[in-house]
Amino acid sequence: MARTDPSNRLAAMPPYMFAELERRIADKKASGIDVISLGIGDPDLSTYPHVVEAMQAAVAANDNQKYPSNRGRAEFRQAFADFYDRRFGVAIDPETEVIPAIGAKECIYHLCFAFCDPGDVVLASDPGYPVYTGGPILAGANPIVLPLVPELDFTPDLEAISTAHLEAATLMFLNYPNNPTGAIAPAGFFERVVELAHRYQFLVVHDNAYSETTYDGYVAPSFLATPGAKDVGVEVFSLSKGFNMTGWRCAAILGNAAAISTYWRLKTNVDSGLFEAVQLAGAAALNGPRAPIEAMNEIYARRRDLVVGALADIGVTVAAPKGTIYVWAPVPVGQTSSSFAERLLEQAAVIVSPGSMYGPSGEGFFRISLTTPDDRLAEAVERLREHLG
Ligand SMILES: Cc1ncc(COP(=O)(O)O)c(C=O)c1O
Repeated sequence: MARTDPSNRLAAMPPYMFAELERRIADKKASGIDVISLGIGDPDLSTYPHVVEAMQAAVAANDNQKYPSNRGRAEFRQAFADFYDRRFGVAIDPETEVIPAIGAKECIYHLCFAFCDPGDVVLASDPGYPVYTGGPILAGANPIVLPLVPELDFTPDLEAISTAHLEAATLMFLNYPNNPTGAIAPAGFFERVVELAHRYQFLVVHDNAYSETTYDGYVAPSFLATPGAKDVGVEVFSLSKGFNMTGWRCAAILGNAAAISTYWRLKTNVDSGLFEAVQLAGAAALNGPRAPIEAMNEIYARRRDLVVGALADIGVTVAAPKGTIYVWAPVPVGQTSSSFAERLLEQAAVIVSPGSMYGPSGEGFFRISLTTPDDRLAEAVERLREHLG
């Protein structure tokens, strides 16, 4: 009999939440139930045509079909430097301050292996993208969650982090606009993070997955625009959400050159880089027009208003988020995150993500993703009104 038990490292991991959710949806569908999933944040709209066309041309070229370099194509690094300058007013040296990542998920996970030794502390937003805690666990490090406080605009109380944890920290994971809360970084927050990182000498990793997906005139900044940020931090920029490219696995890490070089050193040992045709398509996305992004954000804003309105009708009051593709809402009194999600699934055949999936501070909340086509979202909202109204 082959040995099939997981390693102790893997056994210590909770099951990956969306894998479990996918299994539940498949079970329901197999029994003939019309399930509408508002769970995963995977854009329903297509990758912009100019990006697809760039890919079509790039994929046919023999040069692009070979092993990519982990350092990245010059066109890709330059497109990021130009985009960061134009969009965020941040100067990026294309030679030393940016390299491709095979999606933000890969990057976040590998940063843990590049920087953490067993027992090191990693400070992780809670609720947060699960890899902020899963990556450290797999790397043998010790994730310490930083509860996002609703009264502090869903930022962590930096004063409440113990000195022992700050001194032992190697990395801090932050993310604004924030998944799952939809919060944006309040004025002065990034400055305080930079100051703390300087004092305790940990590396800040800002996960910038949603900067292009914002509403009501709000324009999200880059963490790297904060004075001193490049001395203490890196930013992971994913094209998945803002450019409808989740399947393409296209992202980059930017900022502190020494940190990027360390991450690159790890990557040369474990992967063979990002497909160069994808890099060229990514460059076309970054260099391309803003109009498709703006048109998409109008669609999301409309869906957001539909969901926020329906929640108000059933007695759940939430502020409309200014960014991300999520509405984060409290569960009705007397229910837990999972009992509420379970009830919605059983009674209304609608899937939402229980807040507890994103960490202990997500308990008491649920998340609705706006990435469902309009007609299906309208149907889901009707079901919510009918079953919970
Ligand atoms: C905050 C955050 N970071 C990273 C990711 C993953 O990005 P990618 O598709 O580039 O791996 C997601 C996806 O939902 C996310 O919400």
